Amino acid sequence: MNKFFVILAFFVAGFPVWASTPGQIFEQLHRAAREVAPGFSASAQRGEALFRAKLGTGEAESCMTCHTPDARRAGQHFRTNKLIEPLAPSANQARFTDMAHVEKWFRRNCREVLGRTCTAQEKADFVAYMKLL
Ligand code: HEC
Repeated sequence: MNKFFVILAFFVAGFPVWASTPGQIFEQLHRAAREVAPGFSASAQRGEALFRAKLGTGEAESCMTCHTPDARRAGQHFRTNKLIEPLAPSANQARFTDMAHVEKWFRRNCREVLGRTCTAQEKADFVAYMKLL
């Protein structure tokens, strides 16, 4: 078959060729965390604590400020009021399928809430929690 149609088929099906699964994204983040902290094991419980922590060190109080206390529900940006689709992959199959997108938003949102970027361990914990929802 013509290459063009194979590529087109992927787009029509909604599965870009470079897409990953949340499981693969998690594995990649977990490996990165183990590189900086050998023996590290991700914890969904710590991920939930990060999601719920009210730190007040950044502009937004917590992740829940925009993503609501239930990441399976749609949220709203606290400044722009823009709708944010659910963060949990069980409620939104586009989530955690594109590492560049995931890293970009971790960078932005961790700064927004924590006033710093998240560590590799925090990212692995967070995705462990999201996968569990
Ligand atoms: C100021 C509002 C806001 C806050 C606070 C916020 N987020 Fe987000 N988040 C967004 C927006 C906007 C997007 C991207 C829009 C979209 O993809 O729907 C997003 C997307 C993400 C994504 C991308 C997931 C994917 O695969 O699409 C991750 C990861 C994420 N947020 C993590 C966090 C974490 C962790 C926190 C808390 C430390 C947090 N967010 C706090 C607004 C926020």
